[in-house]
Amino acid sequence: MDYKEYIAKRILISGVSEQQIYTSIELPPNSDVGDYALPCFKFAKILRKSPAAIAEQLKESVPSDEIISEVSAVNGYLNFKINKSGLAARTLAEISAMRGSYGSSDIGNGKTVCIDYSSVNVAKPFHIGHLSTTVLGSALYKIHKFLGYNVVGINHLGDYGTQFGKLICAYKHWGDKGEVEKGGIHAVNELYVRFNREATEDMQTEAREYFRLIESGDREANEIFEWFKSLTLEYVKKIYNRLGVTFDSYAGERFYTDKMQPVIDELREKGLLKESEGAQIVDLSDYNMPPCLILRSDGASLYATRDLAAAIYRKNTYDFYKCLYVVAYQQNLHFQQVFKVLELMGKSWAKDLVHVAYGMVSLEDGAMSTRAGKVVWLEEVITRCVEKARAIIEEKNPSLENKDEIAEKVGVGAVIFGALYNAKIKDIVFSYDKVLSFEGETGVYVQYTCARANSVLLKSGERGCCPQNYLPEAEEFEVVKALAAFPDTVKEAAEKYEPCYIARYAVDLAQKYNKFYIGYKILTAEGDAKQFRLALTEATLQTLKNALGLLGIGVPEKM
Ligand code: ARG
Repeated sequence: MDYKEYIAKRILISGVSEQQIYTSIELPPNSDVGDYALPCFKFAKILRKSPAAIAEQLKESVPSDEIISEVSAVNGYLNFKINKSGLAARTLAEISAMRGSYGSSDIGNGKTVCIDYSSVNVAKPFHIGHLSTTVLGSALYKIHKFLGYNVVGINHLGDYGTQFGKLICAYKHWGDKGEVEKGGIHAVNELYVRFNREATEDMQTEAREYFRLIESGDREANEIFEWFKSLTLEYVKKIYNRLGVTFDSYAGERFYTDKMQPVIDELREKGLLKESEGAQIVDLSDYNMPPCLILRSDGASLYATRDLAAAIYRKNTYDFYKCLYVVAYQQNLHFQQVFKVLELMGKSWAKDLVHVAYGMVSLEDGAMSTRAGKVVWLEEVITRCVEKARAIIEEKNPSLENKDEIAEKVGVGAVIFGALYNAKIKDIVFSYDKVLSFEGETGVYVQYTCARANSVLLKSGERGCCPQNYLPEAEEFEVVKALAAFPDTVKEAAEKYEPCYIARYAVDLAQKYNKFYIGYKILTAEGDAKQFRLALTEATLQTLKNALGLLGIGVPEKM
């Protein structure tokens, strides 16, 4: 049950919607005053009264009942105390009934959300810079599914452009079939790097010709290109598997080759296309933006042209309610331009396109850029994290079974959690020691808490149940309240496109559970207290599993 909703339904303020009241309700840090609170400051203007007077007046109109045990007005806040035993019994019963689907909802109502994420580039390194888009996009995918949306995950492959002419040229000059087969994407990438370093003028000309050949459907050129593409996909799919990331479509830029002309025609018909120095552009100076380039002077299309075609194709194919682009903030302008052009074309749905921008990830030694050749492959980071996790486990718990499997869950979880713990727009510096700390605000800490809860349940051999009239102690009630807040947290994460809400929630719940765990006897407690504490432990384990699952992180039974 959603307690915020329960409270919001009971408060009437003229001119303020239930939804606005709902989102205004807070969980005070100190539950001495109340378990929920409505700050009345923002209503002062509408009601032309002081916040204190509003709180006083509202207090009279909200009677206490079997759920709300006390209502008070203090300093402009309307505070609610919840009937503790009722809340505890209801929450634990709900979790035990819903289990893996606790926190889910049907608010999505089957509406379709397209999510464009990861979107790797063929023959280029899948590097640490792709971490955020991959795990953020995947988490948003899982979160939306959990909320009843129909989700389409799209990997908008970077598989179009003159670089592929260069690549084929390099392969023709220096490549060896067997070596490329063996070296896979790394070998292909080396050819590309070598081309950029060593290619002569003649080779540059040749490369342009190869690009033209791909475009015109030449068999050999396309075969080589498709081969490079499949090597790339084979490679990235292995990493997606480790990260638990999936896609419904791999329609990349090249897929739009034959879908751009109708868009160009439509732009022209609508009088939006202008010539500028031989190129075709859409002028956006009225909107304080540089022009959006549609065709270069040599007639070649651009990244934006393909994104216009892709957006229209997605709308026609999926009739999305929203289409999210999980792409770094460096592309802010690109998406502003593309969205604006679609709006000018009269696409009313342009407002449903959302650029979910995120910050950069770098390593502690500053490595990350491709340009300096200092590129760090994502796979290396994952593997190193798993190795380190393996070493830590070996040290902490040498007799543990299935150490490799557990190390994989912990190491991969650490990488994902590390990337999702902060607000997405922040630049982050990835530190192996930090993400693998058992004590910090980490995935490992949450997983460890799960293992702890699991061991309590295994030792007791019984499933607790919440006794109807059990009155929880302070630390127990903190856990209950955190458990009850999960469904709301999931919704907020979706609304703000912030999986970090769920990551932070998991740490908070784990901390509260550990406080309880340290302060109270569980296995040696008696009667109702024992039953309640076991049920609380099981509910915490389940909820943490659900939370981590939405982020794409598995939970080992033992650690
Ligand atoms: N492949 C692009 C890059 O690495 C990202 C593509 C994002 N999606 C899109 N529809 N533009 O920069």
